[in-house]
Amino acid sequence: MTIIVTGGAGFIGSNFVRYMLKKYPLYRIVCIDKLTYAGNLSTLSDCLGSENFRFCKTDICDRAEIFSVFEEEKPDIVVNFAAESHVDRSIEDPEVFLTTNILGTQVLMDASREYGVKRYHQVSTDEVYGDLPLDRPDLFFTESTPIHTSSPYSASKASADLLVLAYHRTFGLPVTISRCSNNYGPYHFPEKLIPLMIANALSDKPLPVYGEGLNVRDWLYVEDHCKAIDLILHGGTVGEVYNIGGHNEMKNIDIVRLICKELGKPESLITYVTDRKGHDMRYAIDPAKISAELGWQPETMFADGIKLTIRWYLDNKDWWQDIISGEYRNYYDKMYKNR
Ligand code: NAD
Ligand code: DAU
Repeated sequence: MTIIVTGGAGFIGSNFVRYMLKKYPLYRIVCIDKLTYAGNLSTLSDCLGSENFRFCKTDICDRAEIFSVFEEEKPDIVVNFAAESHVDRSIEDPEVFLTTNILGTQVLMDASREYGVKRYHQVSTDEVYGDLPLDRPDLFFTESTPIHTSSPYSASKASADLLVLAYHRTFGLPVTISRCSNNYGPYHFPEKLIPLMIANALSDKPLPVYGEGLNVRDWLYVEDHCKAIDLILHGGTVGEVYNIGGHNEMKNIDIVRLICKELGKPESLITYVTDRKGHDMRYAIDPAKISAELGWQPETMFADGIKLTIRWYLDNKDWWQDIISGEYRNYYDKMYKNR
């Protein structure tokens, strides 16, 4: 079994590569990643020596290169994690989001058709459903919730999902799609809420909370997402969409307060800043379908997962300090200075 994993040098993709190499020592895992600002080869350093692992520095939009990797590897399965993933960056500069997230998906599916891939899996997001009101805690996203996007990022992911379903109906490509809620855990890039707050708190820097901090996200430990994708690859029904989420809704401000408490830092570090444009209020996934059909359940509760995550950032300072000392500084100044 050969699996091509795109975006495997990023946060979730690297956790998935590691999970699959450990669980299936006889599978060959081929990681394709362009190594954008968000991809880091050091994230995969413990995998690079494995005999059944190959890394290809390739852009998923580069048709010739992608077809050449498929020609060499003849993959059974393709799992597409590669994407521009940060909402704030998509508000600053949407174009690369459309290129990578939509056209890159098309290239991968064209190659999957050409080489008779048995399963093309698209890693999508709950953001394609838009948001839910705070005063309706009874509402959740199901797989039949209409697509209704807010940011250029979510619009690009939704566009890709539509294209994936079109390739299934028109060409019979054997596809599945998963739409997961917010992940957290090791190797999370420090531009995202949880790692940014951990890194800033450890340096006694201000903790920039957008708006009033009342927006709600449904947090899932990254390994639980990897387990869900594994189940979909091996038991999911072709042509289907699966929502993934752990019924763990939390307000941003409560997450930031918890991080302060765990690190023994004062809440006076919390600084309220100008809100994100078009900021989604609440995400909440109903995972009933994947639970009923594939027996998936989240295994790491937030109280444990956040401790594991904080411990990981304390034990792996080199990994994130290296990142925040480079180009990231310019990004941080642009996004947060005078905000
Ligand atoms: P990330 O930004 O940490 O990693 C993205 C990876 O894709 C990086 O390694 C980057 O180098 C690579 N990449 C970007 N453009 C590429 C290109 N053109 N060609 C090849 N590689 C390219 O992202 P993440 O948070 O790990 O998210 C992975 C996937 O999961 C994305 O598709 C995202 O939409 C989806 N998702 C993320 C979350 C979350 O909470 N982070 C939740 C649900 C779904
Ligand atoms: O729901 C899944 C999505 O989760 C994924 O599809 C995206 O790729 C991923 O980035 C994430 O999107 P969010 O926008 O929810 O995540 P982010 O970590 O950027 O922000 C989480 C919340 O925290 C959001 O309400 C904005 C807020 N926030 C974020 C940052 C970076 C702040 O208040 N301050 C910050 O500095």
